[in-house]
Amino acid sequence: MASGQLSRAEALACSGCRHACHVMLYCDTSTQLFGRIPIRHIILMQMRFDGLLGFPGGLVNPSEETLEAGLSRELSEEVGVALPINVEDHVESCYAPATSSSSSASSSRRLITHFYVKKMEEEQIREVERAAASTATDHGQEVLGMVRVPLYAMKGGGGLASFLSHSFIGNARSQLVDSLSRLGLVSPAELQRALDKSLETHA
Ligand code: GTP
Ligand code: MN
Ligand code: MN
Ligand code: MN
Ligand code: MN
Ligand code: MN
Repeated sequence: MASGQLSRAEALACSGCRHACHVMLYCDTSTQLFGRIPIRHIILMQMRFDGLLGFPGGLVNPSEETLEAGLSRELSEEVGVALPINVEDHVESCYAPATSSSSSASSSRRLITHFYVKKMEEEQIREVERAAASTATDHGQEVLGMVRVPLYAMKGGGGLASFLSHSFIGNARSQLVDSLSRLGLVSPAELQRALDKSLETHA
């Protein structure tokens, strides 16, 4: 395990900590952009109320609900579908980096973020997108919209590099990049090129 990471059990042992669970929902797809660029996978992220990109999910109180039940509850609020999340979908838990907002008195308890990945069928992902824009109670409030992550590279840095140059909440950007790498959704060389390019785009 990388430094700063905790096992699920170690994380839960911190009863004084706050806990947040987020999930990367994704599927394979054979559709093509402009009829020629393979899209390969649909990965769902969201534009949050604060203008930052992140994954669906939220704060969970482990004394009242399991991490997975809490994540499922957050999904019903944020994407309008109470998708079942299993312990096997858990990827990693780690302490959130300290931020100026988390140093205020009301939220001085340390935050542990738990990350999950769930692979779905393309039709299920499309159903999540439809529900997120229609029946989800948080739509237009805490969640401004679901977005798909472009995984291809276009001339001039368009595609994944541009996407990675946006601003993300917490360590959502590394959760995305690590998942692309671990699940082999983008080749190591393509991912490295996109990461290098995203820093140029940002400057
Ligand atoms: P409320 O319903 O307003 O309480 O929000 P929420 O429960 O949906 O919480 P939110 O999704 O904002 O997550 C809680 C905290 O977790 C945030 O303040 C961030 O610090 C962090 N966070 C949010 N999204 C992500 C994410 O995608 N990845 C990581 N690592 N952290 C996140
Ligand atoms: Mn067009
Ligand atoms: Mn929420
Ligand atoms: Mn949330
Ligand atoms: Mn919440
Ligand atoms: Mn809420």
